[in-house]
Amino acid sequence: MSATRLDGKQIALEIRNEVARDVQQFVAAGNAPPKLAAILVGEDPASQVYVRNKERACQRAGIASQLDRMPATTTPAELLERIDSLNQDASVNGILVQLPLPETPVGEPALDERAVLDAVDPMKDVDAFSPINVGLLMQGRPRFLPCTPHGIIQMLHRSQIETAGKHVVVVGRSEIVGKPMAMMLAQKNGSCGPETANATVTLAHSRTQNLAEICRTADILIAAVGRPEMIRGNMIRPGAVVVDVGINRVDDRLVGDVAFAEAEQVASAITPVPGGVGPLTIAMLLHNTLLAAKLQAR
Ligand code: GUN
Repeated sequence: MSATRLDGKQIALEIRNEVARDVQQFVAAGNAPPKLAAILVGEDPASQVYVRNKERACQRAGIASQLDRMPATTTPAELLERIDSLNQDASVNGILVQLPLPETPVGEPALDERAVLDAVDPMKDVDAFSPINVGLLMQGRPRFLPCTPHGIIQMLHRSQIETAGKHVVVVGRSEIVGKPMAMMLAQKNGSCGPETANATVTLAHSRTQNLAEICRTADILIAAVGRPEMIRGNMIRPGAVVVDVGINRVDDRLVGDVAFAEAEQVASAITPVPGGVGPLTIAMLLHNTLLAAKLQAR
């Protein structure tokens, strides 16, 4: 068997077109175009690419964007001050601090990621990283849905892959993907995306015993561990759906967390890397930026 490839690029394009159409309507109703402000601290090459892609995607959707570049030597006070000025700026609807924050030069105070993310106004928190937004999500009444897990839910739904009643194994417990993904899939009230959720979820991680065995019980396997090709073909139940969130650089090649060539022999559907989950994250960021503008326009 050779698995169907889930075309994240195509689905992301569809969503981006929908957002662009909704932005047009929003502006036609007399509102200013939504605006996203991104802060990039330091020179991390991958982050530079991500931020540039986000700016380009905003532009194509009719969303205004601004990028604040700050040097790797930025102090916590300087960064918090910049965030506060964006919080106060009524023309800015969404704020995104690109992660990871740079390593600290010796002797400089550390940039505490938590403290930085906590400083973003929860109404402008388009990444959905603030404790308020995480809490609302946990309670099944989200304001913003975190972009990558929301993109995955959209992709499954738009590919007619049902999650209700299914066993989903999420491998990886990061704050950005694994944890919120598990929570969203388990929701019962449709708050976390269209008619999906209602899944039975296992959240596996680096300390999980019998990982291969547990993975083999998954109807849908979501790999978000950040370890190249850690999920092998023999960890996948024949006919399972495999979603690969990993983007790992190995010898100048991008590989996922799943050994693709093995997995596609076993799975019924699988996301490629690149061109799978990645493009959806940006599409859902645009969605959240429009949502932020709508919430602030009320
Ligand atoms: N770095 C990697 N993924 C993300 C993301 O979704 N948001 C932000 N702000 N930084 C990231």
